[in-house]
Amino acid sequence: MRARVFPGYEAMSAAAAGVIARRLGEDPSAVLMLPTGTTPLGMYRHLSTMHRAGEVSFERATFFNLDEYLGLRPDHRASYHVYMKEHFYGLIDADPARIFVPDGAAPDPEAECERYEAAIREAGGIDVCVLGIGRNGHIGFNEPGAPFDSRTRVVTLSESTRLVNAGDFEANRAPQRALTVGMATIFESKEVLLLASGTNKARAVAVAVEGDVSESVPASMLKRHPNAGLFLDEDAASDLGSGVAG
Ligand code: GLP
Repeated sequence: MRARVFPGYEAMSAAAAGVIARRLGEDPSAVLMLPTGTTPLGMYRHLSTMHRAGEVSFERATFFNLDEYLGLRPDHRASYHVYMKEHFYGLIDADPARIFVPDGAAPDPEAECERYEAAIREAGGIDVCVLGIGRNGHIGFNEPGAPFDSRTRVVTLSESTRLVNAGDFEANRAPQRALTVGMATIFESKEVLLLASGTNKARAVAVAVEGDVSESVPASMLKRHPNAGLFLDEDAASDLGSGVAG
């Protein structure tokens, strides 16, 4: 896993947008897998600006999102459907027929996960998967302990993740469960790009990069990936080499 440290969040976000734009330049029908959270907001902003300037088109691309809360309708203000529409899909020329976000309100969530996994297969797999990282090392909603051979499935969120995300919900209560693309599905992406910004990610980054490859640190799986990059700002890189991972 190659790590690159950028002087700040803006530089990191611009570089991440550059990776996506270049890939779409080579292959306009590329299949992307995308994250939510605060970290990728800068990347989405850069990509939307580039689109407005005529520098990149998403017309033929296919989009999959990594995860969604179980029980949230796609129009719930804290849903990842709404997040993606507001911050990205609604600002570019994406074809709605090629935008996939797990349906958190599906009557049969297990069937929804199978449908999602099949849609990824039908699209020919993921070309570029962009990830954020949770403070506990989670990727998507694959919490510590997620099996490396897992597929898209319903998961129970850790208390710490629910606490971090609580502010998005009424009465500060985040849902207990979510749908997430699995670890094996992420691993099969041709290219993976993990973004991390801020000191509150520094420890998770150091443990993932410098510790053992272990299911207890989901992001550590990427060290086995043949084409995974880690884009960090200086704050997120601040624990590298400090020995916290040992
Ligand atoms: C959420 C998402 C993850 C995301 C993580 C970090 O739990 N399910 O996909 O990477 O949070 O979010 P942030 O970028 O806001 O720190």
